[in-house]
Amino acid sequence: MPSSDNPDSQPPASANHESRITNHVPAHLAVIMDGNGRWAERRKRPRMIGHRAGARAVNLCIDFCLEQGIEALTLFAFSSENWGRPEEEVGALMKLFLNALEREVEELDRRGVRIRFIGERERFAQALRDKMDAAEMQTRDNRRLTLSIAASYGGRQDIAAAARALARDVVDGKLRVQDIDENAMATHMALADLPAPDLFIRTGGDHRISNFLLWQLAYTELWFTETLWPELDAATLRRALDDYARRERRFGLTGAQLAPSTNPSAA
Ligand code: IPE
Ligand code: IPE
Ligand code: MG
Repeated sequence: MPSSDNPDSQPPASANHESRITNHVPAHLAVIMDGNGRWAERRKRPRMIGHRAGARAVNLCIDFCLEQGIEALTLFAFSSENWGRPEEEVGALMKLFLNALEREVEELDRRGVRIRFIGERERFAQALRDKMDAAEMQTRDNRRLTLSIAASYGGRQDIAAAARALARDVVDGKLRVQDIDENAMATHMALADLPAPDLFIRTGGDHRISNFLLWQLAYTELWFTETLWPELDAATLRRALDDYARRERRFGLTGAQLAPSTNPSAA
């Protein structure tokens, strides 16, 4: 079972474990913000109330990243599959996104946050797309934190789009079939300009990836918590970071090969 927010899940004891642990904050954190609906349902309230409460947790998570010096935060806000939810919920979520953009962009810009969106933007209404474009434009030179919001995003769709782009390059004579490799794919994937996520957090108690960053999470450390997204607090995020700091990332090598000077995660 993957490690999770469980006090019993301690790292394995070993004599030289300390020398090979990550022991630093992740540069890139990826989060599935799950549990809004259940949070509301437990209070006998409409699911939308949970989404609204969830918006507050987004701010808390951004604050935490800024305080910790995390350089990139990628949030899963709305999946390709979430379009299939009841019309009323999808409509209410769209309103919430629009309001959040109207409300939050100025302050995020002031705090040095670069905002970007990944996913199929053309599926959103024009008014929302305009706000997304404007937020990206306004904050594009900020470097303190890169906030990527995955909206109408699916990992499979991301991979298919990269394959399509490479196929086009081949048809146009810009690329040879034998030059299609992992690096060529990677340049066409979402978040290609960022290091892969170091740490993935999912709230809400489910242990799955739900079509989030399938390609990019290949060697990401996974961490799960029962905490529902609207109940997120800094202490929970702190536990995730503490657990991450104790992990040994081997990237397919043996533990013995990971002298501190050659451990990619200790760089
Ligand atoms: C996550 O919360 C937010 C979105 C998918 C938009 P959910 O709405 O999935 O909440 P649960 O999982 O039903 O509790
Ligand atoms: C994943 O949550 C998507 C987002 C948080 C935006 P879901 O609630 O859609 O995932 P499943 O249906 O539980 O796998
Ligand atoms: Mg859910």
